[in-house]
Amino acid sequence: MNGIEILGAGSFTPDFIADNDKFSEILDTSDEWIFPRTGIKQRHIASDIPNYYMGAQAAKAALADANVNAVDVDLIIVSTCTPDFFYPAMSCLIQKRIGADRAACFDVNSACTGFITSLDIAHGYLATGKYRNILIVSSEKLSQQVDYTDRASSILFGDAAGAVLITAGDKPFYSYLGAEGDEFEALYCKANYETNCPWYGDIDGFYENKFDTPQKQHFLVQDGKAVYKFAVNAMANAVKNAINGHYDVSEIDIVIPHQANLRIIEKATELLGISSDKVYTNIEHMGNVSSACIPICFSELKSSGRIKSGMKICFVGFGAGLTYGAVVIEV
Ligand code: UT7
Repeated sequence: MNGIEILGAGSFTPDFIADNDKFSEILDTSDEWIFPRTGIKQRHIASDIPNYYMGAQAAKAALADANVNAVDVDLIIVSTCTPDFFYPAMSCLIQKRIGADRAACFDVNSACTGFITSLDIAHGYLATGKYRNILIVSSEKLSQQVDYTDRASSILFGDAAGAVLITAGDKPFYSYLGAEGDEFEALYCKANYETNCPWYGDIDGFYENKFDTPQKQHFLVQDGKAVYKFAVNAMANAVKNAINGHYDVSEIDIVIPHQANLRIIEKATELLGISSDKVYTNIEHMGNVSSACIPICFSELKSSGRIKSGMKICFVGFGAGLTYGAVVIEV
C-alpha cells in the first residue's frame, strides 16, 4: 500500500496576541459579536518577524520531533498565500535558514487548502520513490494582507506556521482535491504590481474594474456569506469523495478541519454525521491561520499524545479559489 508516515510535526506561534477586546479598541466590534459567530477569542500576530522565519521555526521543530537532520531532507514544499516575496519561493528561504542544503524546493498556493494540496503532492512523489524525506511547511502571515478597517474580515485571521516531516509508509492514503474558480471573487487578494509598462491593454476590464479601487488594492477582500455557504458543503463533499467507499465515515477517529469558523466546522461535521468529540479545534486561541491551521492542530494533538497507532485521521479544508480538499490517512 502506497501510504505515508508522519515522522514528526512542529509549529511556531508569534508572541503578540490580539484578543477580541483589542479589536474593539480599533473597530466597532466586541467579543459578544465575534465569539458566538466565529468561535474566536484571540489570534497571534507576527508583529516583528517575516513569514519565512515562522516557517523555519516550525520546520526545525518538526525535524527535532522526527529526530532527523535537515541535511537528510530531500524536498521542502511550502504552502503559503502570504509569502514575503513573489520570488524566490519561501521554501528556498526556509531551506537556507534550517540548513537543508540537499533539498529541492517549491511553494504551493491553494490558499487555506494548501496543506492538503501539499500532502497530496508529497504523497505522489513518495509513491514513485523519487524522494525519501519530504518536509511540508505551512506558514502564513495574514496580518500583512488583512484590512484592519474591515471588521467583517480582520477579526478572523492570525499568523502562525506548522510543519510535518513525512516519508513513504505502508498504510492507506486517500485524498480528494476540488476547485470552483467561478467563485474566485468570494475571497481574493490582488497582486500589487505598480507597473509602468506602456503597452498594456485591458482584457475583461481587469485593470479598470473593482479590483483596482484604492480601498481594495492591497487587501484581502471577502464575501463572508458566500464563503460560508460554499465551505459547509465543500468540506462534507471533500471527505466523502476522499474516502470514496473505502471506509464508513463513522470509522474516522479524528477529524482535523480548517479552522475558519467554528460554526462552519460544526455544520460540516454534522452533515457528515461525525460526532463533535472526534473533531479537533484550536480556533478559539489561534483564529484562522489559513493553510497553517491543520498542521498546527496535528502538532498539538501529537505532542499531547492523542495520536495513537492505527487511528484513521481526516484532514479537511477549503479556501480562496475557491478550493477544497481532504486527505484520510492511517497512522
Ligand atoms: O479560510 C476561509 C476564510 N473565510 C471564511 O471562512 C469566512 C466565512 N464567513 C464567516 O465566517 C461569516 O460570514 C463572518 C463571520 C465573516 C461574518 O458573519 P455573518 O453572520 O455572515 O455577518 P455579515 O457579514 O452578514 O454581517 C451581519 C452584520 C452586519 O451588520 P448589519 O448590516 O446587519 O447592520 C455587519 O456589518 O454584522 C455586522 N458585522 C459586525 N458587527 C460587529 C460584521 N462583522 C462584525 C464585527 N463586529 N466584527
